[in-house]
Amino acid sequence: MKKLLLLLTLCSFSSHANEQEAIKVIKSLGQNLKKELKAAIKISPAHAVEVCNTKAMKITKDAELKGITVGRVSLKNRNPDNYPKDWMKAFIDKYHQKKVKKPYVVLDIGKNKKGILMPIKTGGLCLKCHGSHVDPKTSSKISELYPKDKALGYKAGQIRGFFWAEYSK
Ligand code: HEC
Repeated sequence: MKKLLLLLTLCSFSSHANEQEAIKVIKSLGQNLKKELKAAIKISPAHAVEVCNTKAMKITKDAELKGITVGRVSLKNRNPDNYPKDWMKAFIDKYHQKKVKKPYVVLDIGKNKKGILMPIKTGGLCLKCHGSHVDPKTSSKISELYPKDKALGYKAGQIRGFFWAEYSK
């Protein structure tokens, strides 16, 4: 019995540890992306669009740790690869209907897998490339690189998308 209890404690501890690790990866991804964006936008928003285009996915891969994959998704995605996977969609709907108040959710997404979704709010800076009045140079760069872009027309405070993570239990 004691052994079983110890095992159960260890298991719940380790899954919590993985959750914390995944959250750390998400946070450092957010920081790395913002750092790159802020440096690039000093030159111009159009230049920063190019930098996002060439570097966002690499920065995302670089943030990953062994056994933890991360990324960003949106129902109104700019990059075609950032459309939500099936396990994400139901929860994304709930977030948009304001039925989830927590800062992030942890979901069972397979036999030994968990998934995290954390909403990303649109801030003032984001409007330069995701707002309703994007300057012509920036907007033509966006449509050149992302002909199927859906990520315009946002207002400050709206949920732009979600960070996600997948990891083993
Ligand atoms: C300089 C223009 C620019 C600014 C400013 C900007 N973004 Fe983006 N955003 C992009 C581009 C370009 C992509 C596509 C990146 C890629 O190819 O992976 C993107 C993608 C995203 C995605 C991934 C989902 C998707 O639509 O592909 C999210 C989420 C996102 N941006 C949120 C934000 C937030 C939040 C801010 C403000 C902190 C912001 N962005 C500011 C240009 C910008």
